[in-house]
Amino acid sequence: MKKPHITPTNSETKMKENDFIVSKTDEKGSISYCNEIFMSMAGYREQELLQKNHNIIRHPDMPRIAFKLAWDLISSGKEFFGFVKNLKKDGGYYWVFANITPDYNERGKIIGYTSIRRKPSQSAIDTITPIYKELVRLEQRGGMEASGKYLFDFLDTKKVTYDELIISLQGAS
Ligand SMILES: Cc1cc2nc3c(=O)[nH]c(=O)nc-3n(C[C@H](O)[C@H](O)[C@H](O)COP(=O)(O)O)c2cc1C
Repeated sequence: MKKPHITPTNSETKMKENDFIVSKTDEKGSISYCNEIFMSMAGYREQELLQKNHNIIRHPDMPRIAFKLAWDLISSGKEFFGFVKNLKKDGGYYWVFANITPDYNERGKIIGYTSIRRKPSQSAIDTITPIYKELVRLEQRGGMEASGKYLFDFLDTKKVTYDELIISLQGAS
């Protein structure tokens, strides 16, 4: 099914301090479960979300390389941490600090994924916003080859891994 077009606005909704946004997907990213907080933040009813691809809340300000990194990690059995700007049904947005992990069956095969998100630190969002902006700009010209190079050069210069950068950003207040 085609994704409905939503025009993004500058209206931000902030997550509450102790809230968790939870969803589960099948192995392709089709939503199989979401909690009440997910629905109220994204502005959709449960029937509008179930069996839809998780990209229903994809925001155009998110660089493609962030999702490539996420899928590369989780499909190989690792977990992903990252800051994600999500698009609400009304065009507004909300930032999350996301953790995605694989779910296995009893034979050890990946059968889906679970994502748990909490409120990101404001300083992390202030730091990541211009970086994402640059990654999106590079992708418009040179695709993920260009954004990937920028990201890994950035990490090299800072002498940190992706995970170290993300965890340290969330930890900083
Ligand atoms: C468990 C799980 C949770 C996800 N959560 C989000 C999310 O909150 N926002 C988002 O944009 N993409 C999320 N994704 C990634 C989407 O499946 C998709 O890769 C991304 O939105 C990019 O979509 P596109 O390739 O159609 O541009 C999630 C994927 C999984 C497996």
